[in-house]
Amino acid sequence: ARYRAGLGLLILTISAGCGGPQSVFSAGGADALQINRLFTVMLVGAVLLWLSLNGLFLYVTRRRPGRMSRKLAEAVIIGGGIVLPLVVLTSLLSWGLSIMPDQRAPGDGLRVRITGEEFWWRVDYYPPGSEEPVVSANELRMPAGRRTEIELLAGRVIHSFWVPGLGGKTDMIPGRTTRMSLEPVTPGIYRGQCAEFCGASHALMAMNAVVLEEAEFARWLEAEAAPARAPEGEGQAIFFREGCGACHAVRGTPAAGVVGPDLTHIGSRTTLAAGILPMERGALVSWIAHAEAFKPGVRMPAYGHLSKAELEALAAWLEALE
Ligand code: CUA
Repeated sequence: ARYRAGLGLLILTISAGCGGPQSVFSAGGADALQINRLFTVMLVGAVLLWLSLNGLFLYVTRRRPGRMSRKLAEAVIIGGGIVLPLVVLTSLLSWGLSIMPDQRAPGDGLRVRITGEEFWWRVDYYPPGSEEPVVSANELRMPAGRRTEIELLAGRVIHSFWVPGLGGKTDMIPGRTTRMSLEPVTPGIYRGQCAEFCGASHALMAMNAVVLEEAEFARWLEAEAAPARAPEGEGQAIFFREGCGACHAVRGTPAAGVVGPDLTHIGSRTTLAAGILPMERGALVSWIAHAEAFKPGVRMPAYGHLSKAELEALAAWLEALE
Protein backbone atom coordinates (compact mmCIF):
# COMPACT_ATOMS: atom_id res chain seq x y z
CA ALA A 1 0.00 0.00 0.00
CA ARG A 2 2.82 2.33 0.91
CA TYR A 3 4.50 1.54 -2.39
CA ARG A 4 1.29 2.32 -4.28
CA ALA A 5 0.80 5.62 -2.40
CA GLY A 6 4.39 6.57 -3.26
CA LEU A 7 3.85 5.77 -6.92
CA GLY A 8 0.62 7.80 -6.94
CA LEU A 9 2.40 10.75 -5.36
CA LEU A 10 5.20 10.53 -7.91
CA ILE A 11 2.76 10.50 -10.85
CA LEU A 12 0.85 13.43 -9.32
CA THR A 13 4.07 15.42 -8.85
CA ILE A 14 5.21 14.77 -12.40
CA SER A 15 1.84 15.56 -13.98
CA ALA A 16 1.41 18.71 -11.88
CA GLY A 17 4.50 20.10 -13.59
CA CYS A 18 3.06 19.37 -17.03
CA GLY A 19 0.17 21.85 -17.28
CA GLY A 20 -0.06 25.63 -17.23
CA PRO A 21 0.37 28.40 -19.80
CA GLN A 22 3.83 27.24 -20.87
CA SER A 23 3.22 23.58 -21.60
CA VAL A 24 2.84 21.49 -24.71
CA PHE A 25 0.22 19.54 -22.75
CA SER A 26 -2.01 22.63 -22.64
CA ALA A 27 -1.97 22.80 -26.44
CA GLY A 28 -3.94 25.64 -28.01
CA GLY A 29 -2.68 25.37 -31.57
CA ALA A 30 -2.70 22.91 -34.46
CA ASP A 31 1.09 22.52 -34.33
CA ALA A 32 1.26 21.88 -30.58
CA LEU A 33 -1.59 19.36 -30.86
CA GLN A 34 0.37 17.51 -33.53
CA ILE A 35 3.53 17.50 -31.41
CA ASN A 36 1.44 16.36 -28.46
CA ARG A 37 0.03 13.46 -30.50
CA LEU A 38 3.51 12.55 -31.77
CA PHE A 39 4.81 12.47 -28.20
CA THR A 40 1.95 10.27 -27.01
CA VAL A 41 2.35 7.80 -29.87
CA MET A 42 6.17 7.73 -29.40
CA LEU A 43 5.69 7.09 -25.69
CA VAL A 44 3.17 4.29 -26.27
CA GLY A 45 5.42 2.78 -28.96
CA ALA A 46 8.46 2.89 -26.68
CA VAL A 47 6.52 1.35 -23.78
CA LEU A 48 5.17 -1.46 -25.99
CA LEU A 49 8.66 -2.18 -27.28
CA TRP A 50 10.11 -2.19 -23.78
CA LEU A 51 7.39 -4.47 -22.43
CA SER A 52 7.58 -6.99 -25.26
CA LEU A 53 11.38 -7.18 -25.27
CA ASN A 54 11.49 -7.64 -21.49
CA GLY A 55 8.67 -10.19 -21.73
CA LEU A 56 10.66 -12.17 -24.27
CA PHE A 57 13.78 -11.88 -22.15
CA LEU A 58 12.00 -13.24 -19.08
CA TYR A 59 10.35 -15.99 -21.11
CA VAL A 60 13.68 -17.16 -22.49
CA THR A 61 15.78 -16.89 -19.32
CA ARG A 62 13.23 -18.71 -17.12
CA ARG A 63 13.29 -21.84 -19.25
CA ARG A 64 15.62 -24.59 -18.18
CA PRO A 65 18.76 -25.04 -20.33
CA GLY A 66 18.23 -27.36 -23.27
CA ARG A 67 14.44 -27.19 -22.99
CA MET A 68 13.97 -24.78 -25.86
CA SER A 69 13.87 -25.93 -29.46
CA ARG A 70 16.21 -24.34 -31.94
CA LYS A 71 13.23 -23.16 -33.98
CA LEU A 72 11.68 -21.32 -31.04
CA ALA A 73 15.02 -19.73 -30.14
CA GLU A 74 15.42 -18.45 -33.68
CA ALA A 75 11.87 -17.11 -33.73
CA VAL A 76 12.50 -15.21 -30.47
CA ILE A 77 15.78 -13.72 -31.67
CA ILE A 78 14.66 -12.81 -35.18
CA GLY A 79 11.11 -11.79 -34.30
CA GLY A 80 11.68 -10.05 -30.97
CA GLY A 81 15.22 -8.85 -31.47
CA ILE A 82 15.13 -7.69 -35.08
CA VAL A 83 11.71 -7.58 -36.77
CA LEU A 84 9.65 -6.05 -33.95
CA PRO A 85 12.03 -3.14 -33.14
CA LEU A 86 12.64 -2.52 -36.83
CA VAL A 87 8.91 -2.27 -37.63
CA VAL A 88 8.04 -0.12 -34.60
CA LEU A 89 11.02 2.24 -34.88
CA THR A 90 10.77 2.61 -38.67
CA SER A 91 7.09 3.48 -38.54
CA LEU A 92 7.62 5.98 -35.70
CA LEU A 93 10.55 7.59 -37.52
CA SER A 94 8.79 7.90 -40.87
CA TRP A 95 5.64 9.31 -39.27
CA GLY A 96 7.75 11.79 -37.28
CA LEU A 97 9.62 12.89 -40.42
CA SER A 98 6.41 13.14 -42.45
CA ILE A 99 4.82 15.73 -40.15
CA MET A 100 7.93 17.93 -39.93
CA PRO A 101 7.11 20.03 -43.03
CA ASP A 102 3.70 20.90 -41.48
CA GLN A 103 5.54 22.93 -38.86
CA ARG A 104 6.71 25.24 -41.66
CA ALA A 105 3.59 25.16 -43.85
CA PRO A 106 2.86 28.38 -45.80
CA GLY A 107 0.69 30.89 -43.95
CA ASP A 108 -2.57 32.68 -44.70
CA GLY A 109 -1.01 36.09 -45.35
CA LEU A 110 0.17 37.57 -42.07
CA ARG A 111 3.92 37.49 -41.49
CA VAL A 112 5.62 38.31 -38.21
CA ARG A 113 9.33 38.95 -37.93
CA ILE A 114 10.72 38.30 -34.46
CA THR A 115 14.27 39.30 -33.57
CA GLY A 116 15.95 38.00 -30.44
CA GLU A 117 17.79 40.74 -28.54
CA GLU A 118 19.58 40.75 -25.18
CA PHE A 119 17.15 40.01 -23.45
CA TRP A 120 13.93 40.91 -25.22
CA TRP A 121 12.09 40.49 -28.53
CA ARG A 122 11.50 42.81 -31.47
CA VAL A 123 8.14 41.88 -33.01
CA ASP A 124 7.32 43.34 -36.44
CA TYR A 125 4.00 42.55 -38.12
CA TYR A 126 3.68 42.49 -41.92
CA PRO A 127 -0.03 42.35 -42.82
CA PRO A 128 -0.79 40.83 -46.27
CA GLY A 129 0.46 43.04 -49.09
CA SER A 130 2.34 45.48 -46.88
CA GLU A 131 6.07 46.14 -46.90
CA GLU A 132 6.05 48.57 -43.98
CA PRO A 133 5.97 46.68 -40.68
CA VAL A 134 3.83 47.47 -37.67
CA VAL A 135 6.58 47.67 -35.06
CA SER A 136 5.99 46.24 -31.61
CA ALA A 137 7.92 44.35 -28.94
CA ASN A 138 7.86 41.69 -26.24
CA GLU A 139 4.45 40.27 -27.06
CA LEU A 140 3.20 38.22 -30.01
CA ARG A 141 -0.45 38.54 -31.01
CA MET A 142 -2.01 36.21 -33.55
CA PRO A 143 -5.47 35.52 -34.98
CA ALA A 144 -7.06 32.16 -34.09
CA GLY A 145 -7.85 29.80 -36.96
CA ARG A 146 -5.26 31.37 -39.26
CA ARG A 147 -1.73 30.24 -40.06
CA THR A 148 0.84 32.96 -39.36
CA GLU A 149 4.31 32.79 -40.87
CA ILE A 150 7.11 33.62 -38.47
CA GLU A 151 10.57 34.77 -39.55
CA LEU A 152 13.20 34.54 -36.86
CA LEU A 153 16.32 36.68 -36.63
CA ALA A 154 18.86 37.40 -33.91
CA GLY A 155 20.81 40.47 -32.89
CA ARG A 156 24.23 39.71 -31.46
CA VAL A 157 23.93 36.17 -30.08
CA ILE A 158 21.80 33.07 -30.61
CA HIS A 159 18.35 32.64 -29.04
CA SER A 160 15.50 30.21 -29.62
CA PHE A 161 11.83 30.98 -30.08
CA TRP A 162 9.46 28.65 -28.28
CA VAL A 163 5.82 28.92 -27.24
CA PRO A 164 5.17 25.30 -26.17
CA GLY A 165 1.37 25.67 -26.09
CA LEU A 166 1.34 26.72 -29.74
CA GLY A 167 4.07 24.78 -31.49
CA GLY A 168 7.67 23.72 -31.85
CA LYS A 169 10.94 25.43 -31.09
CA THR A 170 13.11 27.19 -33.68
CA ASP A 171 16.59 28.64 -33.21
CA MET A 172 17.35 32.30 -33.91
CA ILE A 173 20.79 32.77 -35.42
CA PRO A 174 22.65 36.06 -36.09
CA GLY A 175 23.04 36.75 -39.81
CA ARG A 176 20.49 34.17 -40.84
CA THR A 177 16.69 33.99 -41.14
CA THR A 178 14.98 30.85 -39.87
CA ARG A 179 11.30 30.21 -40.46
CA MET A 180 8.32 28.47 -38.94
CA SER A 181 4.56 28.94 -38.96
CA LEU A 182 1.93 28.66 -36.26
CA GLU A 183 -1.80 28.03 -36.41
CA PRO A 184 -3.34 28.87 -33.05
CA VAL A 185 -6.79 27.43 -32.47
CA THR A 186 -7.97 28.47 -29.01
CA PRO A 187 -7.90 32.17 -28.03
CA GLY A 188 -5.98 32.81 -24.83
CA ILE A 189 -2.58 33.70 -23.45
CA TYR A 190 0.32 31.28 -23.95
CA ARG A 191 3.73 31.86 -22.43
CA GLY A 192 6.87 31.65 -24.52
CA GLN A 193 10.44 31.40 -23.33
CA CYS A 194 13.85 31.83 -24.95
CA ALA A 195 15.07 28.26 -25.30
CA GLU A 196 18.75 28.75 -26.17
CA PHE A 197 21.28 30.01 -23.66
CA CYS A 198 22.03 33.61 -24.67
CA GLY A 199 23.63 35.23 -21.62
CA ALA A 200 23.12 36.24 -18.01
CA SER A 201 19.38 36.83 -18.36
CA HIS A 202 18.50 33.98 -20.71
CA ALA A 203 16.04 32.59 -18.17
CA LEU A 204 14.43 36.05 -17.88
CA MET A 205 13.72 36.33 -21.61
CA ALA A 206 10.07 35.39 -21.96
CA MET A 207 7.04 36.67 -23.83
CA ASN A 208 3.30 36.19 -23.90
CA ALA A 209 1.68 35.00 -27.11
CA VAL A 210 -1.85 36.37 -27.13
CA VAL A 211 -4.28 34.54 -29.43
CA LEU A 212 -7.33 36.62 -30.40
CA GLU A 213 -10.47 35.98 -32.45
CA GLU A 214 -9.86 37.09 -36.02
CA ALA A 215 -11.98 40.28 -35.89
CA GLU A 216 -10.52 41.24 -32.53
CA PHE A 217 -7.00 40.72 -33.90
CA ALA A 218 -7.75 42.97 -36.91
CA ARG A 219 -8.95 45.73 -34.56
CA TRP A 220 -5.89 45.33 -32.38
CA LEU A 221 -3.45 45.45 -35.32
CA GLU A 222 -5.07 48.63 -36.59
CA ALA A 223 -4.68 50.23 -33.16
CA GLU A 224 -1.08 48.98 -32.90
CA ALA A 225 -0.25 50.54 -36.29
CA ALA A 226 -1.53 53.95 -35.19
CA PRO A 227 0.84 56.47 -33.59
CA ALA A 228 0.76 56.89 -29.81
CA ARG A 229 -1.75 59.22 -28.19
CA ALA A 230 0.85 60.51 -25.77
CA PRO A 231 -0.57 62.81 -23.13
CA GLU A 232 1.47 65.98 -22.61
CA GLY A 233 2.66 66.74 -19.14
CA GLU A 234 5.36 66.03 -16.59
CA GLY A 235 5.81 62.34 -17.54
CA GLN A 236 6.53 63.17 -21.17
CA ALA A 237 8.87 66.00 -20.17
CA ILE A 238 10.90 63.61 -17.97
CA PHE A 239 10.99 60.99 -20.75
CA PHE A 240 12.65 63.46 -23.12
CA ARG A 241 14.78 65.22 -20.50
CA GLU A 242 16.34 61.88 -19.47
CA GLY A 243 17.03 60.97 -23.11
CA CYS A 244 14.81 57.86 -23.16
CA GLY A 245 14.02 58.58 -26.81
CA ALA A 246 17.63 57.86 -27.80
CA CYS A 247 17.01 54.14 -27.22
CA HIS A 248 13.23 53.80 -27.42
CA ALA A 249 10.75 54.79 -30.11
CA VAL A 250 7.31 56.20 -29.38
CA ARG A 251 5.69 56.77 -32.78
CA GLY A 252 3.93 60.11 -32.95
CA THR A 253 6.61 61.76 -30.79
CA PRO A 254 10.23 62.68 -31.61
CA ALA A 255 11.41 59.50 -29.80
CA ALA A 256 12.78 57.22 -32.53
CA GLY A 257 15.49 55.09 -30.87
CA VAL A 258 15.97 51.52 -32.04
CA VAL A 259 18.33 50.19 -29.35
CA GLY A 260 15.54 49.16 -26.96
CA PRO A 261 11.95 47.96 -27.37
CA ASP A 262 9.42 50.16 -29.17
CA LEU A 263 7.17 51.72 -26.53
CA THR A 264 4.42 53.17 -28.76
CA HIS A 265 1.64 51.08 -27.17
CA ILE A 266 3.47 49.66 -24.16
CA GLY A 267 0.50 50.31 -21.86
CA SER A 268 -1.62 47.77 -23.76
CA ARG A 269 0.82 44.89 -23.33
CA THR A 270 0.24 42.12 -20.80
CA THR A 271 3.75 42.17 -19.32
CA LEU A 272 6.76 44.40 -18.81
CA ALA A 273 10.48 43.69 -19.34
CA ALA A 274 9.91 40.75 -21.72
CA GLY A 275 7.52 38.66 -19.70
CA ILE A 276 9.04 38.94 -16.24
CA LEU A 277 6.99 41.74 -14.61
CA PRO A 278 3.28 42.60 -14.63
CA MET A 279 2.30 45.70 -16.63
CA GLU A 280 1.44 47.99 -13.72
CA ARG A 281 2.54 51.25 -12.18
CA GLY A 282 4.60 49.85 -9.32
CA ALA A 283 6.49 47.42 -11.55
CA LEU A 284 7.21 50.20 -14.09
CA VAL A 285 8.62 52.42 -11.32
CA SER A 286 10.89 49.66 -9.96
CA TRP A 287 12.00 48.62 -13.44
CA ILE A 288 12.93 52.16 -14.54
CA ALA A 289 14.75 52.84 -11.28
CA HIS A 290 16.76 49.58 -11.19
CA ALA A 291 16.41 47.53 -14.38
CA GLU A 292 19.70 45.75 -13.71
CA ALA A 293 18.35 44.38 -10.41
CA PHE A 294 15.60 42.54 -12.30
CA LYS A 295 17.54 41.53 -15.38
CA PRO A 296 21.34 41.18 -15.07
CA GLY A 297 23.16 42.27 -18.22
CA VAL A 298 20.29 44.40 -19.53
CA ARG A 299 21.34 47.48 -21.52
CA MET A 300 18.69 49.68 -19.90
CA PRO A 301 20.49 52.02 -17.46
CA ALA A 302 19.21 52.58 -13.92
CA TYR A 303 17.28 55.80 -13.28
CA GLY A 304 17.44 55.58 -9.51
CA HIS A 305 18.49 59.24 -9.37
CA LEU A 306 14.92 60.30 -10.25
CA SER A 307 12.68 61.22 -7.33
CA LYS A 308 9.75 58.99 -6.39
CA ALA A 309 7.33 61.58 -7.84
CA GLU A 310 9.28 61.78 -11.11
CA LEU A 311 9.34 58.00 -11.46
CA GLU A 312 5.60 57.86 -10.80
CA ALA A 313 4.91 60.54 -13.42
CA LEU A 314 7.08 58.76 -16.00
CA ALA A 315 5.42 55.40 -15.25
CA ALA A 316 1.95 56.97 -15.51
CA TRP A 317 2.85 58.45 -18.91
CA LEU A 318 4.09 55.06 -20.20
CA GLU A 319 0.97 53.36 -18.85
CA ALA A 320 -1.14 55.86 -20.81
CA LEU A 321 0.53 54.77 -24.08
CA GLU A 322 -2.17 52.23 -24.90
CU1 CUA B 1 17.60 34.69 -25.49
CU2 CUA B 1 18.16 32.74 -24.24
